[in-house]
Amino acid sequence: MITIKSNTNFVKRIFSEVPETYEITNHVLTLGFDILWRKRAAGIAAGHGGKSWVDMCTGTGETAAYLSRSAPEGTKVMAVDFSPEMLIEARKKPEAKQIEFIISDIKELPFPDASIDVISISFATRNINLNKDILIKSFKEFYRVLKPGGLFVNLETSQPSFILIRKLFHLYIKLFVKHVGSRISGSKAGYSYLSKTIPKFYSAPELVDILKVAGFQEVTFQQMLFGVAAIHQAYKNNS
Ligand SMILES: C[S@@+](CC[C@H](N)C(=O)[O-])C[C@H]1O[C@@H](n2cnc3c(N)ncnc32)[C@H](O)[C@@H]1O
Repeated sequence: MITIKSNTNFVKRIFSEVPETYEITNHVLTLGFDILWRKRAAGIAAGHGGKSWVDMCTGTGETAAYLSRSAPEGTKVMAVDFSPEMLIEARKKPEAKQIEFIISDIKELPFPDASIDVISISFATRNINLNKDILIKSFKEFYRVLKPGGLFVNLETSQPSFILIRKLFHLYIKLFVKHVGSRISGSKAGYSYLSKTIPKFYSAPELVDILKVAGFQEVTFQQMLFGVAAIHQAYKNNS
C-alpha cells in the first residue's frame, strides 16, 4: 500500500515553482544520463511512424522536441501538460513552432478514440500517481486514444534488480537528489517529493503487469544504468 500524497493540486504547485531550473537540475542529478534516455525513448517512439504523435506530461518539452526533430513531413507532434508554467518554458524551445501544445489533465484527454499513432511519456508516470488503480485508469485513457496497433513508450525511474545496487540508488536519492535538487531549483517541496516517490515507484516487471491490466499487449522493457530507469514499450491490440 503506497501512502504518499500526490494530489493534482500539489503536483501542479510543485511544477509551477521549477520551470526555469527544471532541465539543468535533471541534468546535474542524473549526470546527464536523462538526456540520453529521453533521446532513446523518443527514437523508439518516432521509429513507430504514423501521422499523430503525442508527448504526455511534456513539462518543458524536451522529449517533444526530440520527437519533433525526428518527425517526417506531415507528422503532427502534440504535447500535453496541465501546468501552464511548464508549457511557457516549453514554448521557448526552437522546436516549439512545430509542436502543438495542449493544456489538459492526461486523465481526460481531449482526443477522440483511436486517433493517435504514438504516445510517449518521460519521467512523469510517477507524478500522475503512485496508486496502482489511478495509474491503470490513466493508462486506459492512453489506450482509448491510441489507434489499433498504436505504440505507448514510457520512460521512468525504476528499481534496480540487484538489492545492493537498489539500496545504493535509494541512498543516492536520499542524500544527493533531495538536497542538491532543492538547492539548484529553490523548491524544497518539489525535490523532497521526488526523493520520496522514486524509491516507492514500481519495478520494471511490476509496471509491465500494470500496463497489461490497462489493456496493453506485447509489453517489453529495457533497463538503463543497472535498472535505475526503464523504457517500456506497449501496444494497443491491432484488431
Ligand atoms: C517530472 S515532469 C516531466 C516533464 C517531462 N516529461 C520530462 O521528460 O522532463 C512531470 C510533468 O508532468 C505534468 N503532470 C503531472 N501530472 C499530470 C496530469 N495528470 N496531467 C497532465 N500533466 C501532468 C507536470 O505538470 C510536469 O510538467
